[in-house]
Amino acid sequence: SGKLRLGIAGLGTVGVGVIKIIRREAAMLTARTGCEITISAVSARTRDKDRGVSLDGYDWEDDPVALATRDDVDVFVELMGGSDGPAKAATEAALKAGKDVVTANKAMLAIHGQALAEQAEDAGRVIRYEAAVAGGIPVVKSLVEGLAGNEITRVMGVMNGTCNYILTRMESAGLPYETVFEEANQLGYLEADPELDVGGIDAGHKLAILASAAFGTRVAFDAMELEGIGRITIEDIRAAADMGYRIKLLGVARMTGRGLEQRMSPCLVPATSPLGQLEGGTNMVVLEGNAVEQIVLRGPGAGEGPTASAVMADVCDIARGVRLPVFGQPASGLEEATPARSVTP
Ligand code: NAP
Ligand code: HSE
Repeated sequence: SGKLRLGIAGLGTVGVGVIKIIRREAAMLTARTGCEITISAVSARTRDKDRGVSLDGYDWEDDPVALATRDDVDVFVELMGGSDGPAKAATEAALKAGKDVVTANKAMLAIHGQALAEQAEDAGRVIRYEAAVAGGIPVVKSLVEGLAGNEITRVMGVMNGTCNYILTRMESAGLPYETVFEEANQLGYLEADPELDVGGIDAGHKLAILASAAFGTRVAFDAMELEGIGRITIEDIRAAADMGYRIKLLGVARMTGRGLEQRMSPCLVPATSPLGQLEGGTNMVVLEGNAVEQIVLRGPGAGEGPTASAVMADVCDIARGVRLPVFGQPASGLEEATPARSVTP
């Protein structure tokens, strides 16, 4: 059996989760992939920090670019975050140096995914991103592999757990938005910039990435209609409930004659539907194809274990020699779409 040597940049929630799985499950991972998965080196901002996991045996690099281009790194695992800065610089450097890349960074992919995917393709490398969309739910794999025999007709879902937590908590406790927002803040649910969550931007990033994989189109975050949950009142939620509906921050993407339509906005969904029954910080993705009709995937969209689980799915695929491109590929037979700005629900 061969060896797959990782360089991991970012030792926060997700990076630590990945290291724990590799340390805990080494034998199982080798048995499943036929490959010994090892970590050559790691990087983060602060070297002297107790991260609750041993880093013994791994070299340290202060500079993520230096880490990404090391001779003893086959796969660069980018878990720092941020759409630009070191995450993008190190990802580009890794691809240029002939490394495959695994990332959980939806912000980077929504803005630069197309360019990075093209760079990877030109270099004969892959960039994988299962963890970037709906955390622990294997949605990219389901779409690209599981539904390979389908023309995808629509993808939709609740892809920001924080917003779903806020909306369901407002409803169950009868509390106003501002109070529940503060609660979410105290619980550490909000991104460093909360507008990414409540403004719908984080969920929009995920939908743009998913739509690209679903429809073989370019990642077109700029063309998305976006509205967050900041203006939803308890009265809106009660009025919806009286009519048998719940309000969800719902993303919908579908292909029409006018091109790709994508929208992320608060929507009324029937309370008895799977989406209507989604509670708390959970995510749900609905995939529709012309053969399968509809499948519903539900699970944790964030957190150490679930997100690391998705990162490891990509690492294991690379260890098994899977070279499948998972971004929009105009060459796949679908015409490249012109992004449209409006959507009919
Ligand atoms: P996090 O806990 O904030 O950790 C970020 C890590 O990156 C930290 O170890 C930090 O170093 C390091 N870092 C930040 N800037 C750096 C720089 N300039 N140079 C070197 N290292 C740097 O973040 P996270 O929650 O693990 O998220 C990582 C990625 O996964 C993000 O793209 C995020 O959007 C994505 N993601 C997260 C979740 C989740 O549930 N957390 C779910 C899905 C996707 P220090 O520790 O030294 O500060
Ligand atoms: N802020 C994100 C959420 C984290 O609440 O879903 C996971 O991407």
